[in-house]
Amino acid sequence: MSQPETGQIANVMQEERLFPPSEEFSAAARIGSREQYDALCERAKQDPEGFWGELGQQELHWFEPFTKVLEQQGSDFSWFPGGKTNVCYNCLDANIEAGNGDRTAIIWEGEPGDTRTLTYLGLHREVCKFANVLKSLGVGVGDVVSIYMPMTPELAIAMLACARIGAIHSVIFAGFSAGAIADRNNDAKAVVQLTSDGLFRRGKVLPLKETVDEALEQSATVGKCIVLRRAENEVSMTPGRDFWWHELMAEAAEDCPAEPLDSEADLFILYTSGSTGKPKGIRHAAAGYNLWTKMTFQWVFDWRPDDLYWCTADCGWITGHSYIVYGPLSCGATVFMYEGAPNHPAPDRFWEMIERHKLTILYTAPTAIRAFIKWGDEHVDKHDLSSLRLLGTVGEGINPEAWIWYHEKIGNKKCPIVDTWWQTETGGIMMSPLPGVTATKPGSCTTALPGVVPVILDESLMPVSPGQGGMLCIDKPWPGMLRGIWGDHDRYLDQYWAKVPGKYLTGDNARIDQDGYYWIMGRIDDVINVSGHRLSTIEVESAIVSHDSVAEAAAVGRPDDLKGQAIAVFVSVKGAEPSEELRQELKQHVRKEIGALAVPDDIRFTDALPKTRSGKIMRRLLRDIAAGKETAGDTSTLEDLSVLAKLQSNQE
Ligand code: WTA
Repeated sequence: MSQPETGQIANVMQEERLFPPSEEFSAAARIGSREQYDALCERAKQDPEGFWGELGQQELHWFEPFTKVLEQQGSDFSWFPGGKTNVCYNCLDANIEAGNGDRTAIIWEGEPGDTRTLTYLGLHREVCKFANVLKSLGVGVGDVVSIYMPMTPELAIAMLACARIGAIHSVIFAGFSAGAIADRNNDAKAVVQLTSDGLFRRGKVLPLKETVDEALEQSATVGKCIVLRRAENEVSMTPGRDFWWHELMAEAAEDCPAEPLDSEADLFILYTSGSTGKPKGIRHAAAGYNLWTKMTFQWVFDWRPDDLYWCTADCGWITGHSYIVYGPLSCGATVFMYEGAPNHPAPDRFWEMIERHKLTILYTAPTAIRAFIKWGDEHVDKHDLSSLRLLGTVGEGINPEAWIWYHEKIGNKKCPIVDTWWQTETGGIMMSPLPGVTATKPGSCTTALPGVVPVILDESLMPVSPGQGGMLCIDKPWPGMLRGIWGDHDRYLDQYWAKVPGKYLTGDNARIDQDGYYWIMGRIDDVINVSGHRLSTIEVESAIVSHDSVAEAAAVGRPDDLKGQAIAVFVSVKGAEPSEELRQELKQHVRKEIGALAVPDDIRFTDALPKTRSGKIMRRLLRDIAAGKETAGDTSTLEDLSVLAKLQSNQE
């Protein structure tokens, strides 16, 4: 283990395995050689504006050309100013004009097993009609539309319809409470609400409209509500306010030209929870975001027209916005979309669908992968997954052992894995392997994409040496970057630009290794400081997860008189019973994997870890629990952890 310097974070993870792409994969890839990739990166580095300007010109449709590539005033950025474009046009009309109207855009499967397929022409027709519906309710350029809907094609249709007429969508994940919807609606001053009667989740109907009714009582700006019929559950409709989706669509005209919009027009707001609790409405602008998602989709997923691509995220999160809707559709891709739970009717649902639809690319989250491992290999073994050629992960760091399982069990050792690091704020992927070029290391997001310039700094804002962890910042602007926080520009400046002048502060810690590979070490706030050694959560967790009996682990610091902080780890087990013996064994295991410094002081067994609704472990909550009164040996209250998590997220 290397010794940390002041303000830096110790690196304790030893991961030496290297997985280069197969010759066969590289030979067929869009970018298949190091020379080709280096040339791209070099061009982006030498002449960023020339690079992005050329791509902007080529890849997007312009009603009016932009006059400049980038304009910067302090920490405010405009990409492609002067130009007029339309993101919906780029996703639909442009593909139809290129002769791909009959290509499938969306293959959708509902949880009960119903399916639907929409070609680009079919999707265009639905989007135009729904855009006319929105207009008929008075929605126009700059109006905010709040979307609280199940993962149905209509969710994508609604987003694209907003983009077509210049309305700004605010998608709220359909698991949030009425209070959370109302907070977001009020902050955004939304004028129209879109929802459905209900949605299917693990065979049950969740009554979305009921939740929305409660939310709208506290959402003064929302005057109209459109309700999709999905689950056929009974709902109450308020005359004058509520309308059925299908009734309005039956009347709507099919012709709706795309509105030429300023490059910098807001495309959407997406709320993400901030460290202080009040959610932030992250703003993304039309042209730059569109270009970023389109390019990164091609580079990272090596997309080809015959791919059947599946991103398992929900459109309520940024991953769904960028890599279900805008990135893939602007390329003309065929996207698979699924409504329900991964374990309904059985834990093999994902694998069964991959086999049946012959899907070729799978993009999912480490939290899902760890759940699959826990459910057992037999559910995977039943299915032929040979159609898959590429795998991806996003959302958190992936523990090396989960990576290896994904590689062997799902990828049959032949599919490259792209571990993609990015944030709601970055709009799209920032660091990732290129599947035809990069030799991957389990747990590393490898290197930055063309035009992305990461730097890692210590507390005195000096670059750290290789092997040492520090604050991850981005040194140069990129087209997909956030443009602000809705209604609170000061918070934007303060949060992302104040601490490190001139650089975007990501809020993550990272280190770079001797080969120039990046390793994300967790959020800055999550560092554990043991006797002056700063340890990253992911490294301690990965050591524990590499034990055969561990399904998931979350490490946090708790106050300790002697050491400053002691390490507490919450562990859920697989194929074993929690016991004092196992606890000692795990401590030994960490000692062997990392060293004495990282041996947890407390190990607490729990059935489930508390998570945010997008699947990230809630370390903040665990820190409170770890610092609380329960003794280390007491496991009786831990059953309540998931309940606690629910309570906490319901307060948002
Ligand atoms: C974390 C999701 C490690 C990170 C697209 C980031 C990751 C936050 C990775 C953003 C990864 C995301 N490896 N950590 N590949 N991807 N993260 O806004 O802490 O939901 O800052 O965006 O997730 O989460 P968000």
